[in-house]
Amino acid sequence: MILKDIWMDVKAVQERDPAARNALEVLLLYQGVHALIWHRVAHWFYEHHMFFIARLISQVARFFTLIEIHPGAQLGHGILIDHGCGVVIGETAVVGDNCTIYQGVTLGGVGTQKGKRHPTLGNNVTVGSGAKILGSFEVGDNCSVAANAVLLRPLEENTTAVGIPARPVKKDGVALPKKQKMIIGEDDQRILEQIDALRKELQELREESANLRKELEAVRAGQEKA
Ligand SMILES: CC(C)(COP(=O)(O)OP(=O)(O)OC[C@H]1O[C@@H](n2cnc3c(N)ncnc32)[C@H](O)[C@@H]1OP(=O)(O)O)[C@@H](O)C(=O)NCCC(=O)NCCS
Repeated sequence: MILKDIWMDVKAVQERDPAARNALEVLLLYQGVHALIWHRVAHWFYEHHMFFIARLISQVARFFTLIEIHPGAQLGHGILIDHGCGVVIGETAVVGDNCTIYQGVTLGGVGTQKGKRHPTLGNNVTVGSGAKILGSFEVGDNCSVAANAVLLRPLEENTTAVGIPARPVKKDGVALPKKQKMIIGEDDQRILEQIDALRKELQELREESANLRKELEAVRAGQEKA
């Protein structure tokens, strides 16, 4: 079973990395493949409750590949970890089949709570270099998370998300209208509320000054008559 998984990892590199020449070269020289091989062994020990050995294997793998995959993480078939350096995949992360993960990606948590705290990626998900996906939520099949994006919320399938915090810009290959792309953060919301309050205050002051002007005109008219 592990051998079959390794073969599928090698094939994934050959299919999706234009620089890959042949299976032997991929097997011997691609640190992403090495990290996956180590992980599959470490995960076996983890599943059999031999946590120390599992963690030891994962740390040795990290030393040689610069890719840190917690032995508890569940990885599917045909995964490509391209370049790989700096990739971190947390204990309760799940990565579906045929996902592509570039260098510097973190599939992490956002707190110290135990239990499921890392993301779940569907199948065929691409995570661009330097992207961070933080928290326990799902990223649907065929999604793309842009290079350097920070994704903090679930993504529906076939969605492309970019930026910090990441927001959807494409769905089913079609660009979303710019308005829908805008996400108002908490700070922006507070500024909008302050602008609203200032508008109301200005309106009240205008009405008050109009009333005062009327009263002043009435007083002046009275004085002229007298
Ligand atoms: C996210 C990604 C997959 C989008 O690809 P795409 O579907 O072709 O999307 P587009 O290029 O049409 O971009 C759509 C919008 O997102 C923006 N965008 C794309 N990538 C972005 C990024 N990394 N950060 C911020 N905005 C980005 C584009 O400027 C465009 O915005 P606009 O509509 O306002 O002009 C791609 O840009 C990406 O980041 N891939 C990762 C590649 C990578 O990490 N390679 C490492 C190789 S070593």
